[in-house]
Amino acid sequence: MSKILAGKIALVTGASRGLGRAIAERLGRDGALVAVHYGRASAEAESVVQTIKKAGGDAFAVQAEIGDVASIQAMFQALDKELTDRTGEVRFDILVNNAGIAPMVSLEETDEATFDRIFDVNVKGLFFVTQQAIGRLRDNGRIVNLSSGLSRAVGGMDIPAYSATKGAVDVLTRQWASKYGARGITVNSLAPGAIDTDMNAGWLRGNAESEQMISSSQAIKRIGKPTEIGDAVAFLAGPDSRWVTGQYIEASGGWLL
Ligand SMILES: NC(=O)c1ccc[n+]([C@@H]2O[C@H](COP(=O)([O-])OP(=O)(O)OC[C@H]3O[C@@H](n4cnc5c(N)ncnc54)[C@H](OP(=O)(O)O)[C@@H]3O)[C@@H](O)[C@H]2O)c1
Repeated sequence: MSKILAGKIALVTGASRGLGRAIAERLGRDGALVAVHYGRASAEAESVVQTIKKAGGDAFAVQAEIGDVASIQAMFQALDKELTDRTGEVRFDILVNNAGIAPMVSLEETDEATFDRIFDVNVKGLFFVTQQAIGRLRDNGRIVNLSSGLSRAVGGMDIPAYSATKGAVDVLTRQWASKYGARGITVNSLAPGAIDTDMNAGWLRGNAESEQMISSSQAIKRIGKPTEIGDAVAFLAGPDSRWVTGQYIEASGGWLL
């Protein structure tokens, strides 16, 4: 049976762990060649590459500090080389802007360095990765930006700088959907609710009270899994979503409806 993303090439940022890992593995199972981006977790990224290969797919790892534009540019040079060696050209089809950080700080607790760091990784990094990617993306390509339920339901958690970065991501989604739709490129925000990844380990993992607080505020009364975000991204990265663009789509089990 032919796979729905056979012949496509995807770059997933922050694919060494958490949601990015689940997204990369799902796109690999769907037949895409996956560039597994990581920041520091090189062993974990290599493990994702091996998992995709064992499932019959193909992948390779690329590294960049996402808060640093020079590092992003160097990653795209490495990506160009790898893709040219494999395919004879630098073009690819799917960009998933997933890398992000979420320091759990309120207005009162946020110092300047923390504020700058959140915006550098979640907004500046996503912006300049997309700047590098856009000329390399094939027509009818896909961009999926990881947003958050917190850009809609801001009362859900008191982490305003993080929530504001995801609001900025949603604006960029609509801006780029409007501009690049003429090329058939779709751009959407995929917004998870709280999922048990390393990002939330400090307050959610193994904490029955937090699990109960999240589950009870959702229509579907359990904690979501990373694979459920991978599945939602697979729709937005695939051919069946060709008429969906510029949208904020929440995959949160119906959080704070
Ligand atoms: N988990 C949730 O509940 C949830 C909810 C809503 C939205 N989201 C969004 O979903 C995305 C993924 O979250 P997650 O929970 O999977 O996070 P995670 O488990 O903490 O993983 C974060 C990933 O991003 C990479 N990364 C972080 N900072 C980086 C930097 N400065 N340079 C390069 N890479 C960097 C990490 O790479 P290395 O480890 O290799 O450095 C890692 O692969 C984020 O955009 C987040 O805001 C998550």
